Amino acid sequence: MASVETLFRLDDRVALITGGAGLLGYQHAATIAALGGLPVLLDINAAELMKNAARLEAETGYKALTLVADITDVDALRSADEQVQAHHGRLDILINNAARNPKVEKAGDQDFSRLEHFPWEQWRLDLDVGLGGAFNCAKVFGSQMARQGSGVIINIASDLGVIAPDQRLYRVEGLEPDNQPVKPVTYSVVKHGLIGLTKYLATYWCEQGIRCNALSPGGVYAGQNDVFVAKLTQLIPLGRMAGADEYRGAIAFLCSDASSYMNGANLVIDGGRSTW
Ligand SMILES: NC(=O)c1ccc[n+]([C@@H]2O[C@H](COP(=O)([O-])OP(=O)(O)OC[C@H]3O[C@@H](n4cnc5c(N)ncnc54)[C@H](O)[C@@H]3O)[C@@H](O)[C@H]2O)c1
Repeated sequence: MASVETLFRLDDRVALITGGAGLLGYQHAATIAALGGLPVLLDINAAELMKNAARLEAETGYKALTLVADITDVDALRSADEQVQAHHGRLDILINNAARNPKVEKAGDQDFSRLEHFPWEQWRLDLDVGLGGAFNCAKVFGSQMARQGSGVIINIASDLGVIAPDQRLYRVEGLEPDNQPVKPVTYSVVKHGLIGLTKYLATYWCEQGIRCNALSPGGVYAGQNDVFVAKLTQLIPLGRMAGADEYRGAIAFLCSDASSYMNGANLVIDGGRSTW
């Protein structure tokens, strides 16, 4: 039995992180590298990907493999898989973290976020990336791990994967009700869908040694406007938004043998928001 001190170690485990150019993608990678793991950063945005890789190297000394790919393109993912195999010879962890994070758009904007106006094309794009991309990555990288006979998949959902958005947060003084901006429906659908995908994958490859869990973070403070932050924090028992680094412990837990008996679960870390 591993000692509790070594339970969280990820020595030589190869972890592919989609959305590796983003805010949380960086945090996941830094956590894995700090525990001895070998993060691979994949993203569609080459410039931001290089910035995160450089920051990771400066912070941890680890020079990560970077892969520019669109997760809606299964052929690009197969080629990414070949590169991971050529570079590392194995894959142990997949973190489905990439998302389009559809914005709350105002009346007059092309993609006005109210359901009555929400463009079909926008629905399709958001679902293609948020859900279809996770499906594609599971198909390509999950199959690779299933052939290998072990692996961990983590789907990054959201507190809005378990509760509905509180549209009062986005309300603008003085606008008619049917002109009020809202959190787009696609965010809810993608995040609830990822929790469904988690349960499906948790049972699908259980005989091949693959575990799959979801992590549902609450909102991270990233300079949002004061009015929004004041309204949101009133909905959170801890009275504040999360720091970007406050999911590191959860990632360490979910990636490592510390969570060896956890499968098909959704770890909600939201300052208690979904409890109220
Ligand atoms: N930041 C938060 O407050 C928060 C809260 C709850 C859940 N989440 C979830 O955590 C995850 C990471 O969030 P974040 O804040 O780091 O977002 P982010 O926007 O900083 O990062 C998302 C990354 O996904 C990439 N991406 C988008 N489409 C892609 C595609 N087709 N192929 C490959 N990559 C693509 C983007 O280029 C970007 O780098 C997301 O799933 C998000 O929904 C974030």
